[in-house]
Amino acid sequence: MGRGRLDLFRSDDERSTMQRARRLALQTASLARLPRPVATFWYRALRRAQADGDTWSIDVACRPAEMRVLLDALAGRSRVAEIGTAAAWTTCCLALAEPGREVHSWDVEAHPERERYLALLSPADRARVHLHDRPGGLGPADPPPVDAVFIDSSHELDETVATFRTWKPAVTGGGVIAFHDYADDAYPGVTQAVRELGLQGEARGHLFVWRKPG
Ligand SMILES: C[S@@+](CC[C@H](N)C(=O)[O-])C[C@H]1O[C@@H](n2cnc3c(N)ncnc32)[C@H](O)[C@@H]1O
Repeated sequence: MGRGRLDLFRSDDERSTMQRARRLALQTASLARLPRPVATFWYRALRRAQADGDTWSIDVACRPAEMRVLLDALAGRSRVAEIGTAAAWTTCCLALAEPGREVHSWDVEAHPERERYLALLSPADRARVHLHDRPGGLGPADPPPVDAVFIDSSHELDETVATFRTWKPAVTGGGVIAFHDYADDAYPGVTQAVRELGLQGEARGHLFVWRKPG
C-alpha cells in the first residue's frame, strides 16, 4: 500500500495533539484490517486526493474505522443502495468488499470529484457501480429491490425520515437499513429521525442498523 501519513483532520478540527494521535492510530489500524481490495482503494484514493489538494473528498468520506463497522453490518448483501454518493469513496469500497455485489448510489448532485476515484476501479468493478443523480429524499419513484441501504445524505431530520420511508418497501425481508452519523452531536437530525420513526435496532458506534423483519 505504500508509505505516508493518514492526514484525516479537517482544518477546523479542535482535537488536542494527543487526541489526534489516538484517532490516527485507530484509523491506521482499522485501515490495515479492512479487506485488502478495500484498504488498497481507500489508501490510493487518499493519496490521490492529497496530491490534488482535494480536501473536500477526504472530509466527507467514511473513515476506515467506520468502514469496518459498515462492511460488517452489510456483509453478504449483494444489492446495496447508498444515499449520498459524494466523491464515491464508500460507493467503491462497498463494491470492492464483495466481488458479486451491485451498488446503486444516489445523490442530489453529481459531484465532479467522484470521477477521479471511480477511475481507480477496474472496468469490471466499475460496471457494478450504478450512479443516480436524484434527491434521495424524493426518489427514486420506484426503488429497485435491495438487500441493504446505507443512508449518508443531508443528515436532516425530514430528509432522513423520507429516505427511510422511500426505501423500506424496497428492502427484502431480513435486509438492513443503516444510518450513518447516528448519536453524533454534529448530526442531531439522524438520531431524531430514528426516534421519530420508532425504529428498534442496533447502534454500532455511530452507525444505527435496522433490520427488516422477515
Ligand atoms: C457525507 S456526504 C456522503 C459521503 C459518502 N457516503 C462517503 O462515505 O464517501 C453527503 C452527500 O449527500 C448528498 N445529499 C444531500 N442531500 C441528499 C439527498 N436528499 N439525497 C441524496 N443525497 C443527498 C450530498 O450532495 C453529499 O454528496
